[in-house]
Amino acid sequence: MNIIWNKTSGQFHLYNDRISYIMGVGVTGELTNLYFGKRIHEKEDMSYVVFKMGMPNVVVDADTETYSMELNRQEYPSFGTTDFGTQAFEIETANGSRISSFVYKNHRIYPGKKGIDGLPATYAADDEAMTLEVDLTDEVAQMTLTLFYTIFDKYPVIARHARFVHNGNAGVRLTKALSICLDLPDQDYEWMQFSGAWARERIPEVRKLGTGTVSIESKRGVSSANQNPFVIIKRPNTDEFAGEAIGFSFVYSGNFIAAAEGGNHDRLRVLMGINPDRFSWPLSEGETFETPEAVMAMTDSGLNDLSRTYHRLYNNNLVRGRWKNEPRPILNNNWEATFMDFTEETILKIASKAKEAGVELFVLDDGWFGDRNDDFAGLGDWIENPKKLPQGMAGLARKINAMGLKFGFWIEPEMVNPDSNLYRRHPDWVLSVPGRKSSLGRHQLVLDFSRKEVVDHIYDMLYKVINGAPISYIKWDMNRSLTEVFSLDAGPNEQGTIYHRYVLGVYSLYSRLIEAFPDILFESCSSGGNRFDAGMLYYAPQAWCSDNTDAIDRIRIQYGTSYGYPIVSMGSHVSAVPNQQTGRRESIRTRANVAYFGTFGYELDLNEISEEEFEEVKGQIEFMKKYRKLIQFGDFYRLRSPFETDQAAWMVVSEDKNSAIVGFYCMRSNVNTLPGFLRLMGLDPDRLYRMEGDEYYGDELMNMGITLSCFYKKGFTISEDHASFVTVIEAV
Ligand code: DGJ
Repeated sequence: MNIIWNKTSGQFHLYNDRISYIMGVGVTGELTNLYFGKRIHEKEDMSYVVFKMGMPNVVVDADTETYSMELNRQEYPSFGTTDFGTQAFEIETANGSRISSFVYKNHRIYPGKKGIDGLPATYAADDEAMTLEVDLTDEVAQMTLTLFYTIFDKYPVIARHARFVHNGNAGVRLTKALSICLDLPDQDYEWMQFSGAWARERIPEVRKLGTGTVSIESKRGVSSANQNPFVIIKRPNTDEFAGEAIGFSFVYSGNFIAAAEGGNHDRLRVLMGINPDRFSWPLSEGETFETPEAVMAMTDSGLNDLSRTYHRLYNNNLVRGRWKNEPRPILNNNWEATFMDFTEETILKIASKAKEAGVELFVLDDGWFGDRNDDFAGLGDWIENPKKLPQGMAGLARKINAMGLKFGFWIEPEMVNPDSNLYRRHPDWVLSVPGRKSSLGRHQLVLDFSRKEVVDHIYDMLYKVINGAPISYIKWDMNRSLTEVFSLDAGPNEQGTIYHRYVLGVYSLYSRLIEAFPDILFESCSSGGNRFDAGMLYYAPQAWCSDNTDAIDRIRIQYGTSYGYPIVSMGSHVSAVPNQQTGRRESIRTRANVAYFGTFGYELDLNEISEEEFEEVKGQIEFMKKYRKLIQFGDFYRLRSPFETDQAAWMVVSEDKNSAIVGFYCMRSNVNTLPGFLRLMGLDPDRLYRMEGDEYYGDELMNMGITLSCFYKKGFTISEDHASFVTVIEAV
């Protein structure tokens, strides 16, 4: 890895073994992109790729009659100085002008990577990455813009963000400040997004790009289940196994936009950042605004390779602390077993059976605090309900610990029910517009986390509950979108900052809790997977994937999630049948075969299942304990797509290629068809492997494939609807 500054040509070349990113100071001092793609040789001057000919409609200045920004590639474009594309930022100056013109001033290159104040970001030691900071200035607006680029040594990845500083005293307003813009020289790409809604999150959708704009966004205050802040552009012939693609992942948990804009001269512009709609940030003299980070990864070897880059990067350089690269405890959560209707006795009964099965962690979900017996009351009152927890959280936690289980519990700190002591005492602490009705969501209002005293108060309440008790885990939920976003504490000039300040407030509460309790494992949740994003992973290394725990739906949800996020980040549980969301009755085997590919746990009362099933559960837990390191941190391959076929399959392979585990699922059985073959990936072609007692060469399994009929012989009934198998492959 290296970053070269060619002084004479004014060009930068960031490269590692796999990629090159080249840009330079352009005709009028702006930064121009020259190349991003597979690694190419270093050359002092690449300015021949800048397009200067003919008579463009408008030119930047009289001396450069042939140069228009519209026909070239910009690093971080503004609007209105010959570029007519979508701008990466916009500054409104005191006189109302929205024209900016930033020119190169200087730069710094250094090993490693700096953090971003108050925001999540990837991190790197000095030998893991190099960073380039380029300062540009606009003398008229009296602004300095710094663009940050980090190239990682081991990954085909560039992480980017931007910082604005106002040096004058006139005051300006940032009305748009995206994190990334990548201009490419052609439009022969497809766009892949991960969309859905509650209970059907992150379903891939692909469309062809061309002239015009394709864009997705969230304006819900959270990244959302509707559109995930992760997109891919890929060549039309790129599939899981071969071909070029570029991923864009936003390390942020609030409103966002991601767009691809095809211009009329072949340029394709990809943009990602905080949604400019509802964003307006005033800057006075000396004030700074720093955008969140966006992480761009490139592959020329297919989508599986792109996903593995994100998995490795996020496991090694985003997730932090005690749980980084640690296999996750197998848990039992009481939510679907009891909802809020429980006593300490019922909880202990569920926990005791869980312990007997081999579970390691018990999680008490919603309903333990205030007057919380249904979802109409109690949110905001983070004090144990003595009727349910007579000896408090500490008392229950100790009893659970005495059984040999770790203990954790549920919170939803950003919310308040109107029927709560917190709201009665502080009605002004919610996001609401004076004189207007506040919309409810699940009978709750949103606390104004842009206010420090609100976050402080919630922190103090939670601290008291956690501090005295042996707590190993916290599930942090967030169950409604933001509406009537207005802070009673902010002036008219500052209302456009509230969405972002809210997210900063959430991050600050996470940071304080993590600092106070560094050993606690946090799992983020938002009505299931409504805030499953890279920003959250910086604080909570795992996230509840979806409230839809139906195994068949979960195959799709987990398959879609795997494009941008590591397997170990996906909260996945075996729940009761009939499934509470879909009414389906999957076998306990298929439910576990899906849930293994995630954090793994149970979301039911194990007292309620049959003895045979309980025996099977014991075996499942034993299996997961033995193989979780491989499943959660191995190299993951999607083999067969549930979106394209009537089957689904995926596998994980250990780094040394000694072991692998394959999961196969029949989504729908087809009559009078042959079982066929499933070609594996990632094995050593020359080694002999054992699978279900027989031996096969790696090349045999990868080129010919597993003969699925073997699994009939072994007693699996994989031709039935929703049958499945998980098989272990070990090098001999
Ligand atoms: C929504 C979550 O996604 C569920 O798992 C559960 O924790 C409920 N909230 C509790 O209210």
